[in-house]
Amino acid sequence: MCGIIGHVGDGDALETLLTGLENLEYRGYDSAGVAVQNGSGIAVQKRSGKVDELKDAVSDVSLEGDVGIGHTRWSTHGPPTDENAHPHTDCTKDVAVVHNGIIENYAELKAWLRDRGHEFTSDTDTEVIPHLIQYYLDDGMTDEAAFRRAIDELEGSYAVAAMLSGEHVLYAARKGSPLVVGIEDEEFFLASDVPAFLEYTDSVVYLEDGDVVVVDGDGVEFTDLDGDPITREPETVDWDPEQAGKGEYEHFMLKEIHEQPTSLAQAIEGRIDPETERISLDGFDPGTFEHVDAVQLVACGTSYHAALYGSLALNQAGVQATALLANEYSVVAPPVDDDTLVVAVSQSGETADTLSALRQANRRGADTLTITNVVGSTAAREADDALFIRAGPEIGVAATKTFSSQAVMLTLLAQRIAADACGHVPADLESLLPDIGKMPDAIDGLLEESAADAIARDYLDSESFFFIGRGLGYPVALEGALKFKEITYEHAEGFASGELKHGPLALVTRETPVFAIFTGQEDEKTLKNAEEAQTRGAPVIAVCPDDHRAVEVADDHLTIPDVDSELAGLLANVQLQLVSYYAADLLGRPIDKPRNLAKSVTVE
Ligand code: F6R
Repeated sequence: MCGIIGHVGDGDALETLLTGLENLEYRGYDSAGVAVQNGSGIAVQKRSGKVDELKDAVSDVSLEGDVGIGHTRWSTHGPPTDENAHPHTDCTKDVAVVHNGIIENYAELKAWLRDRGHEFTSDTDTEVIPHLIQYYLDDGMTDEAAFRRAIDELEGSYAVAAMLSGEHVLYAARKGSPLVVGIEDEEFFLASDVPAFLEYTDSVVYLEDGDVVVVDGDGVEFTDLDGDPITREPETVDWDPEQAGKGEYEHFMLKEIHEQPTSLAQAIEGRIDPETERISLDGFDPGTFEHVDAVQLVACGTSYHAALYGSLALNQAGVQATALLANEYSVVAPPVDDDTLVVAVSQSGETADTLSALRQANRRGADTLTITNVVGSTAAREADDALFIRAGPEIGVAATKTFSSQAVMLTLLAQRIAADACGHVPADLESLLPDIGKMPDAIDGLLEESAADAIARDYLDSESFFFIGRGLGYPVALEGALKFKEITYEHAEGFASGELKHGPLALVTRETPVFAIFTGQEDEKTLKNAEEAQTRGAPVIAVCPDDHRAVEVADDHLTIPDVDSELAGLLANVQLQLVSYYAADLLGRPIDKPRNLAKSVTVE
């Protein structure tokens, strides 16, 4: 969703704010703005469009000062215009506010403030916040009391940072939207996410819901909503700034695709021992899942595809499991009891739909677990337990390396739950664990030899792109299509291969290339389904090992190393990530920031 940055310290705030906004642009990129405390008050600059446009706008104005706030927006209330960009100010321009989240009662608050003479200049829900602060200041409250009182009036979700004219202070509060504090000697940062200030400090405090902070040049005061002091200890994040930069790559997405050998190695490190066939999941001793008789996995988008992958792995291991779209969970959730484990799968750990499903599961008494990439995320804090995928920061809006790590973690979890709950070690563990250990090298080799760029070029002019797979190849087909449509803006669909003949075949022509994923699970049937499309003119691109029979039948071929059928789909997925990337690059799309999307969707 939106990205917030704040800075208090001795240095020049503007440079820090602009760097932070560039680092946060993956959270929203339809408008951006900054407010800096200068000698005569608060100076604001904001623009619709990307951070680069804001940088042009600030290049010829004076915005000097060591306290400031900035924002990059993904619109919810009102179109992406200059007026709707944050920071928002009150009538006197003495209060500036940036906000991420949704103020549900903004219409009532706006009407109430209008009745008291306040004039609004934007369509946003956020603008009520500086006006409320101003109202309470006019009423005689101190700055801090006015901020607290305004926050108290808000219903909905928010991460808010506010600055008041003449004060060397930032006020901030969080409920339902992420906010972290960065600390480096006498320099302090506020941000929606750690990469915003990673080049300045790795010492962070993740705020919790209900936290209010007052940051000045001397330190940070952590309190609850009533103003009572609370303790929040800084943590050191082990992401380095280089990980959060593009390095030698033109796009974050390509970099993150190429990081998969490393991110997977990190995911499995210390968690598998192929020799003893042991899986050690941090803090989950053998027997932890003994009582589990059903698993529900909830997630959205790419994480849902990983969840589906996990549910099939669980089913294959003999455990009853269902993957559900988190945004449907409130309507369609199957019954839960004490023996149900609900697993929320979320890269960011901040997706509102997934958090809502997680909270529902908590309320209904299920055991909950999250599989996430972000240690201090809301999901990690609200689930009973967390398993971290250790993928490092993922900046490209299209999820790539985190999908692979989620799917591998879920594969390991499936084996552990099966061993605990069903009392048997699945028969294929002997081959599965060594193959998991070989995945980083397998991906490395695949990346070096991939023909994905040529395939993308050859089929670029097609009308529509189909992806088919069976068993564990099915979630990969869905993910292949999602990635393709997300970054190329071309039409793409994923199907269970056997479903093609039940309707979609009507769409098949020579203009609809079919990417067929072979995982070693009933491949003969998948090949037959691919041939049914080929007979009707569609070119077939087989994604399979070199010596697979499909290579002879298909029009083209993307090769994957021969591995256990539980892992083959993940290698196929890497090839499909590359096809999407190269197709989008040839089409000149803004690959890391596809239109209308944002990395972390913190509204339902
Ligand atoms: C697509 C993509 C999204 C996310 C979805 C859930 O490439 O990244 O579909 O997977 O918004 O996000 P998380 O995993 O953060 O819950």
